[in-house]
Amino acid sequence: KCVRVRVPGTSANCGPGFDCLGLACTVYNDLELRLTREPGLSITMTGEGATNIPCDNRNIVWRSAQYLLEKAGKDKEYRGAVIHMENRVPLSRGLGSSATAIVAGLTAANALIGNPFNRREILQFATNIEGHPDNVAPAIFGGFTVNAVTNGRVDCFSFLPRFRMKFVVAVPNFPLSTRMARKVLPTEVPMKDAIFNIGRASMLVAALTRGNERYLRLGLDDALHQPYRAELIPGMYDVFKAARRAGAAGATLSGAGPCLIAYVLERRHAEEAVGKAMLEAFRKHDVDARILTLD
Ligand code: HSE
Repeated sequence: KCVRVRVPGTSANCGPGFDCLGLACTVYNDLELRLTREPGLSITMTGEGATNIPCDNRNIVWRSAQYLLEKAGKDKEYRGAVIHMENRVPLSRGLGSSATAIVAGLTAANALIGNPFNRREILQFATNIEGHPDNVAPAIFGGFTVNAVTNGRVDCFSFLPRFRMKFVVAVPNFPLSTRMARKVLPTEVPMKDAIFNIGRASMLVAALTRGNERYLRLGLDDALHQPYRAELIPGMYDVFKAARRAGAAGATLSGAGPCLIAYVLERRHAEEAVGKAMLEAFRKHDVDARILTLD
């Protein structure tokens, strides 16, 4: 038996919602998985990262499938796999490529053994593997997601915003590991920055669920992670400004970066201008980037 699953790329944080907010977008990775009783792996792939992703025991799709098999007590029964990946989510750029691999591996293995786990359990497994839930949650549930972690247990709800948006993503030509982008963060933050972010994150969710465009503009600011990560992405704040000037409601770092994502209301038809402005602003800082326009 072989299953095929498709998992969306994601943008975590959405500005103020560090480790708590995320959204799914229309760029997808496909996975075909067959489990074998004999040990041994055959891993092939096309597309993004095809030359960088390990094709042995370190492969994250296989590790995630194994994790699920262990949880189901089936890891002695299935000891190998045939895996084929078609990747379109840029690798190590802040669009959740590792989350897609984890969710794909878990979901496909789950389906192959008769779906013993529900989506909440898959979310918990995926969070345990990834370390934070804000990419895996929208990859599993779709839409915008809000999650809260209590003593390691993750809860999540997903919703669709009241207005249609385009996400204009500037993808720089350099990768940035999440580990590195988390290393530059402080372990403690000033109370005033925490209050700033609580207001912004709440405003963002309220604006999206009520369909309030003015508050969407306000809801994308952040004081908890972007200021510290700016040093890793030359021109970040200039690109944000350029995107706003060209008609975006706002722009944020996508996940841990280096992708920058602009939120553009569909009825403004500004996505082309926004993409151009973001590229130009990046170019002034000697950063080569490409644009993905997503829903
Ligand atoms: N919330 C995580 C971070 C997302 O910003 O480090 C990483 O993709």
